[in-house]
Amino acid sequence: MSILLIGGSPSVTSRTGRWLKDIGDRLEQEDFQVETLHVRDLPAEALLHADFKHPQIIAALQQVERAKGIVIATPVYKAAYSGILKAFIDLWPQFGLTGKVVLPLANGGSPAHTLILDYALRPVLSSLAPRQVLESIYAVEQQIVWSDEFGLTLDPAIEERVQNGVRNFVEALYPALPEFNLVRSLGERNSLAV
Ligand SMILES: Cc1cc2nc3c(=O)[nH]c(=O)nc-3n(C[C@H](O)[C@H](O)[C@H](O)COP(=O)(O)O)c2cc1C
Repeated sequence: MSILLIGGSPSVTSRTGRWLKDIGDRLEQEDFQVETLHVRDLPAEALLHADFKHPQIIAALQQVERAKGIVIATPVYKAAYSGILKAFIDLWPQFGLTGKVVLPLANGGSPAHTLILDYALRPVLSSLAPRQVLESIYAVEQQIVWSDEFGLTLDPAIEERVQNGVRNFVEALYPALPEFNLVRSLGERNSLAV
């Protein structure tokens, strides 16, 4: 089953991007196929002109369509999610998240903007008809520390939220697996027979 990680930071040395990679590594350990899409890598001109015919935009939209689960991560910019992330989401079909499970993440300089996930990003995601938007995770800059020597270190409170978030994501994805549905329907049939 394919998972898409979407990074919404314009910055190449993005803290959000490093956090997202860490989540992707955890999902790969759970045997998911993980793809990553940083919106900043899409052609800016095509993004700003909503050029649906640009090959890279087509490919990015296909990645979204293919994914059963999406982890979407954004830095906080001006008390909301990033503008480039919105520019990309604006290109999605009206019900572009149909059947998908979504885990939203944000990282900002201030704890005062924790609610951007629920007041700004969640309504947009919900309007795209996802199967489920999971409880989001917000971290402030100081809780996500990167060093060349040690790599990524998460504050213990964020580490715990990430572990719970990944577990919830995996559990929410299982009903999308045909094998899971088969096992469940066999279980239901057996319990009816008893
Ligand atoms: C243009 C800009 C606007 C920002 N606005 C906010 C804000 O309104 N609230 C906040 O908490 N942090 C704000 N920040 C801080 C970033 O969210 C924070 O530095 C974050 O870690 C950046 O993530 P990144 O490295 O993935 O881009 C802003 C940063 C920039 C560059």
